[in-house]
Amino acid sequence: MIKSPLNYTGNKSRLLDQLFSRFPQKINKFVDMCCGGASVGLNVNAKYVICFDNNKKVIELLQTLRFLSEKSIVDRVEEFINTFNLSDTFNKGYDIYRKYIEGNNGLKQFNAEGYSKLRSFYNERALNTKRDNAVCLFTLLVFCFNNDLRFNSVGKFNMPVGKTDFNKSIRKKLTSFKYGVNNKDVDFSQNDFKILKDLDLNRDDFVYIDPPYLITNAVYNESGSKWDEVKETELLSVLSYLDDRGIRFALSNVLKKGDEENKILSSWIKINKFNTHYINYHYRSSSYNKKDRATPEEEILITNYDV
Ligand SMILES: C[S@@+](CC[C@H](N)C(=O)[O-])C[C@H]1O[C@@H](n2cnc3c(N)ncnc32)[C@H](O)[C@@H]1O
Repeated sequence: MIKSPLNYTGNKSRLLDQLFSRFPQKINKFVDMCCGGASVGLNVNAKYVICFDNNKKVIELLQTLRFLSEKSIVDRVEEFINTFNLSDTFNKGYDIYRKYIEGNNGLKQFNAEGYSKLRSFYNERALNTKRDNAVCLFTLLVFCFNNDLRFNSVGKFNMPVGKTDFNKSIRKKLTSFKYGVNNKDVDFSQNDFKILKDLDLNRDDFVYIDPPYLITNAVYNESGSKWDEVKETELLSVLSYLDDRGIRFALSNVLKKGDEENKILSSWIKINKFNTHYINYHYRSSSYNKKDRATPEEEILITNYDV
């Protein structure tokens, strides 16, 4: 499995088997719409893959990690680490940091100051190029809480410092990602889901959509343009448009969460007689809110074809 170096909230890496067993056997062009960390697009078996997300920063990050060599990414991240005096357990070992570790806070205390400076540096647009900005954001992602990507309403990265650093595990994910993008015909593009109406799609192509879910709270629902009933309805009408043209699609979503139900979605499924497949999984990191985490969610995959 190709790992995404973006530990994206709600990523589908643990659900891939369940998804792929319900995808068509032969796919020419695969569209990963609302791709996030692109865990689906990077692993699907298709001739061409195009990953879309409307988050410019996410797409620039994916494009940059694909464009630059692994060595130049690692070298640049290590430069940021040295400049901002961040921990480097991969090269220096853990021992020199032990005295800064309290309870289960990992490297948080050691990195707090340097991380905060790096975040201000990034938010003040101190860098010259788009690529350098993206690698700086990648460094922040490596050092921030939960490795989550979150921006405030004015576009500033606002995650607090986390417990880990540029360790073996994240380096391995980067290697895996580089292997994936070098061995696959995959593209990343910033676009809204409405682009689906304008793509040149045929009956042997396939669209997978993993939008924000109306009844769950993930970080990408908090900042920027919020996912709401209007967007949900627009997306479903775009999917109906694809269906009318014989284009196969699969939509991930959550139909019920505790007592809450996404009624817009359930009535659309019913009216169109689409197929609903139940996916066996509850997100653990989709919310910081304990109450939210404890509420069971009904994760589903909706298809406009028989599996
Ligand atoms: C559930 S996440 C996708 C996770 C992804 N499948 C993965 O495995 O990492 C939802 C994504 O939808 C994107 N999104 C939100 N509104 C969108 C829109 N109008 N058009 C396209 N993408 C959108 C968000 O930026 C976010 O990355």
